[in-house]
Parts: sequence; structure tokens; C-alpha cells
Amino acid sequence: MAALLLEIEPEDEVIVPSFTFPSAANAFALRRAKPVFVDIRADTLNIDESQIEQRITERTKAIFVVHYAGVGCEMDTILAIARRHGIGVVEDNAHGLYGRYRGRYLGALGRLATLSFHETKNFTCGEGGALLINDAQFNERAEILREKGTDRSRFFRGEVDKYTWVDIGSSYLPSDLLAAFLRAQLEHRDQIQSRRRQIWEAYARELASWAKTNGVRLPIVPPECEQSYHMFYAIMPSLESRQALISHLAGLGILAVFHYLPLHLSPMGLRFGERQGDCPVTENLSDRLLRLPFFTGMSSSEQNQVIDAVRAFRC
Ligand SMILES: Cc1ncc(COP(=O)(O)O)c(C=O)c1O
Repeated sequence: MAALLLEIEPEDEVIVPSFTFPSAANAFALRRAKPVFVDIRADTLNIDESQIEQRITERTKAIFVVHYAGVGCEMDTILAIARRHGIGVVEDNAHGLYGRYRGRYLGALGRLATLSFHETKNFTCGEGGALLINDAQFNERAEILREKGTDRSRFFRGEVDKYTWVDIGSSYLPSDLLAAFLRAQLEHRDQIQSRRRQIWEAYARELASWAKTNGVRLPIVPPECEQSYHMFYAIMPSLESRQALISHLAGLGILAVFHYLPLHLSPMGLRFGERQGDCPVTENLSDRLLRLPFFTGMSSSEQNQVIDAVRAFRC
């Protein structure tokens, strides 16, 4: 929907980080636009704002940023770049609901922002998401796009006496059942977020000295960011040590996973002319990152088992 609202057309370019899920790049590729991949910062794993401007051309229509692990991107700089070039910023806030940057909610900073309610997220209804609109000029068309290109929302409000096909669109609405399931969690957001905070802080506290001894880097949250407690990751010294820790944990019945494969080196990314070495930080960290089990219903004893298992591993 963000790509449709921004009227992305064939040959347009959109800046996206290489270190992310394919969804963002895909949304623009579906409009036949070209994703232009930018590397990430080594500290937050967010898009490296210092590399954005050099990739902007007269075809660039938008900058799509991801608040990785719910830690805000350097939005002041990014919004200033976008203003200078007269282009929009879209926030991929799949990880960051209720996180803040300089006191402002993530998702409230760009012209548009996307949320995900996929099963891995803090708030979930299994699949689906939401579009946050921070620029009222998009409201009316967004209602039509999500209702199969019809003016059904106007009809429901009694503004028209019948509804019909007025634009392109699709069925972007969640079902009532999914919405109800999600709403119950949103009503308990303080409990959910505070439990996730406890889990995150216990990992950070209990793994700090293990990380130091083994040359492992734990997440960095800059002081201007209040994170959303979406995930806890470790950056291992090498690909080999990352794979060895995954096997060690698997042997103890603990599932730990990695992500993302650099998009610029994916089969689709290569079709857009990208090459090995174009995003070196992404290439390096993607090999070394490991996510530890992290879910709201995780008990303290389950987390202690994970902590003990990790501490028993030597790099
Ligand atoms: C950064 C990011 N963006 C987007 C998505 C996609 O979300 P969805 O599957 O709800 O479209 C994910 C999913 O895991 C993600 O991690």
C-alpha cells in the first residue's frame, strides 16, 4: 500500500537497507521500481544514514528505513536528507511498535510507516500488518486501496448511497477474528512490553561477561532511542563460531536462528545489478548474527536454561 500511495512507477528508485526482510524491496519491485541497497551501521544494524545521499538520483522516489530490533534509525539526519531532495520517508516499523526516537514513537516520523503482526512480532495475529499514515493527503486513497479499489468506507459512513469500483486496490483488510485477537494484545500492551523488557534485560545482564570473554558483541541501544524489546541478538566473532553455537544450542533442544541474508546478494538483488562487496557491513554481520529465543510467554526458567547453555559455550 505504501508503494501504491507513493505512486511508485517503473524505473523509479527506492532506497532500502540490504540488511532486511524482502518485504520492503519486494513492495517496490512489484511496481517495477528498482530497490537501491544501502549498507548498515555496525552499531545498531540500521541503515547507514551517512551513505544515503550518495545513492540518491533524480529517479529516487522514497527512502525506506527499518528500525532494526525496534531501535530507531538516525531519523533527524534521514528526514533532513529527504526534505532536501523532496522525497518521502517510509518507516518499516515491523520490529518497533512502541519504541521511540528522541521521545517520539517510531512509526510517527516518516510520511508512512508499516507494522507487522506476523507470528514473530511483539503483537501478533499470525499474519498481516498495518499502515500508519502521518500525512493526511494519503487517507482517502488508502481507504480505497485497502477495500479492493472501492469507496466502501465512504458508504459505511453514509457519505454515498452505494459503493463501487473507483481505483485499483486489493483486499488489505484483516478479518474481524484476527483483529479481535490482536486488539486483546494491544489492550495489554504495558504488560506485554514490560515482560519483554525483563527478558531482554536478563539476557543483557546475564550474558555480559560471557560476551566479553568470548569476543561476542551484544546489542547497542543509543541513548536517544527507547527500544521496543523485540529481539535479543549476539554478534559472534565469526561465521564458524555462530554455526557452532547454533549446533551447541540445538543439541540442548534450544532453537536459535539467524537472519537476514543480504538482499543485494540475493538472486533478486543481483538482478538489480548489485555485487559482492557493495554493502560490506551487511555482508559481514549477516554471517555472524544469532538471535536468541525471545517470546512474551517465555518463563524465567526457560530463559535460564538458554542463558546457562550459552554460557557453557566457548568461542
Ligand atoms: C524488518 C521486517 N520488515 C517486514 C517484515 C515482513 O512482515 P510481514 O511478513 O508482516 O509482511 C518483517 C518480517 O519478519 C521484518 O522483519
